[in-house]
Amino acid sequence: MVRETVLTPDDFIYPLFVVHGNGQQRPIRSMPGQHQWSVDLLPQQAEEIAALGIPAVILFGLPVTKDARGSENYAENGIVQQAIRAIKDAVPELVVVTDVCMCEYTDHGHCGILDDRGYVLNDPTLEVLQQVVSSHVEAGADIVAPSGMMDGAVAAIRQELDRIGATNTAIMAYAAKFASGFYGPFREAADSPPAFGDRKQYQMDPGNGREALLEVALDAAEGADILMVKPALPYLDILAQMRANFDRPTAAYHVSGEYAMIKAAAENGWIDERTVALESLTAIKRAGADMILTYFAKDAARWLKG
Ligand code: PBG
Repeated sequence: MVRETVLTPDDFIYPLFVVHGNGQQRPIRSMPGQHQWSVDLLPQQAEEIAALGIPAVILFGLPVTKDARGSENYAENGIVQQAIRAIKDAVPELVVVTDVCMCEYTDHGHCGILDDRGYVLNDPTLEVLQQVVSSHVEAGADIVAPSGMMDGAVAAIRQELDRIGATNTAIMAYAAKFASGFYGPFREAADSPPAFGDRKQYQMDPGNGREALLEVALDAAEGADILMVKPALPYLDILAQMRANFDRPTAAYHVSGEYAMIKAAAENGWIDERTVALESLTAIKRAGADMILTYFAKDAARWLKG
C-alpha cells in the first residue's frame, strides 16, 4: 500500500539480436539466456514478448559482410530492415525501436567513418546515419535510436525525418552514453568490438557528470523525443538529474555487463537472480526511468505476473 515505486512489464524494452539464416536461435555465450535470432523466428518471439505485456523491442543486426562504410546498415533488404518488417507484420502493436549506429556494420568496428589516422569523421558519419534512418522508417520502425554519440546526430536525424515526411517516427537519443566496460558482453553478442583503440573519442568519460548533462541538453535541443542514459545502475545520479531537469520521457539502458554479472553470480549460487534483478530494475525506475531497456524484460515480466 505504501510502496512508492512499482515495476510493471510495460516499463520494459527488450533488446533482440538478429542474424541472417533460417531457424537460427544461437545462444550468446557471454549473456546466458539471450540468443541471436534469424528473421523467420521473430514473429513467434514478438508474439511471446507482446503477450507478456512488454510494449517494445529494440533491434540490433549482424550483417553478412562488414565494410568501411557499413553499407548493409542502410540496405533495403538489410538484416534489421527484414526484421522490422517481420515483426510489424506479425504484431503491429509491438513498438519497434532500431539502434542507429555503425559499429556492427563497419570492418573496423567503430561507430563512425574513420580518416586515415583512425579518427572518426563526425559530419560524414551523420550522412550515413540519415541513410540508415530512412531505410529503417521505410521498413516500418516506430522509434530510431542513435547510439554512436556523434555530435549533431539528433539534429541530422530530425532533419531527415522531416525531409521524408516521417512525422510519426520518434527519436530516442542515447544522450548520455558512457565509455563503459559494462558493454563487454554486448560486443560478443553483436560482434561489434572496435578492431583497434576504444570508444573514448566519442563516448563520455565516467568521471564527467556535468558534461553528460550538457550532452543531454544538446540532444533535447536538437529534438530528441526520449532521452537515455547508459549504463543504468552505475549512473543513477545522472539519471535522477535528467529526470529532474528535462521534461522528456527518460530511458535507462540496463546493459549487457549489468545483466551478465547478475547471471554469473546467480549461477554460482552467490546471489538470488530474481531478487537482485527485480531490485536493480526497481532502483532504476525509482531513480527516474520511465522506461528500461533490459535483457531481463521477459523474465521480469513473468516474475511480476507471479
Ligand atoms: C552500439 C551499441 C552498444 C551497446 C548498444 N548499442 C555497444 C557499444 O557502444 O560499444 C551496448 C549495449 C549493452 O552493452 O547491452 N553503439
